Amino acid sequence: MAKHDIVRAGHPVLRGVAEVVAEEEFGSKSLRELVKTMVEAMRRAPGVGLAAPQLGVAKQVIVLEDAERLMAALNLEQRKARGRVPFTLRTLINPSLELHGEPETVFFEGCLSVPGFSALVPRHFRVTVRGRDEKGDAVEWTTEGWPARILQHEIDHLNGGLYVDRMLSRTFGVNDEVAQRWQLLSPADVREKLRA
Ligand code: CO
Repeated sequence: MAKHDIVRAGHPVLRGVAEVVAEEEFGSKSLRELVKTMVEAMRRAPGVGLAAPQLGVAKQVIVLEDAERLMAALNLEQRKARGRVPFTLRTLINPSLELHGEPETVFFEGCLSVPGFSALVPRHFRVTVRGRDEKGDAVEWTTEGWPARILQHEIDHLNGGLYVDRMLSRTFGVNDEVAQRWQLLSPADVREKLRA
């Protein structure tokens, strides 16, 4: 497998439980290299998040980052509805997630490991993540909206989960169809029309 090949659904590594990164691995060259490779793969895709199992590495490591150019297709209203804002690169190792109450938000979501498709997925609006960075320093981040959605998606990957496990399955579609027909409507309208 080439260095940046992203593992696709059907590969068992995406359904396993990723291993905790051991104390002695923090600050090591191998962990730095893994994070670097993950960031490159995420940016090349391009995507807003990646979990180590998506590169075939069953370890509890995720990276996420969002940038203006990746949300260029969304107007200001759509960005606001999604809580989508640019944020700088975050690396989280051995992360644990605290979900903050209601309400749940529902938006279209896709995955680099399930290329070509998307579906509405309910997620918590606000979360706190706690973990370490690659040097071993503690990281704590409370966030909401799209970054919170990305965190939930990526941490699901560490537990063998894919968004298809949580999606409103009647809204599942091929990206071109979803973009043309559904993405411009509110999620509530999509659910009504698709009886989802
Ligand atoms: Co994914």
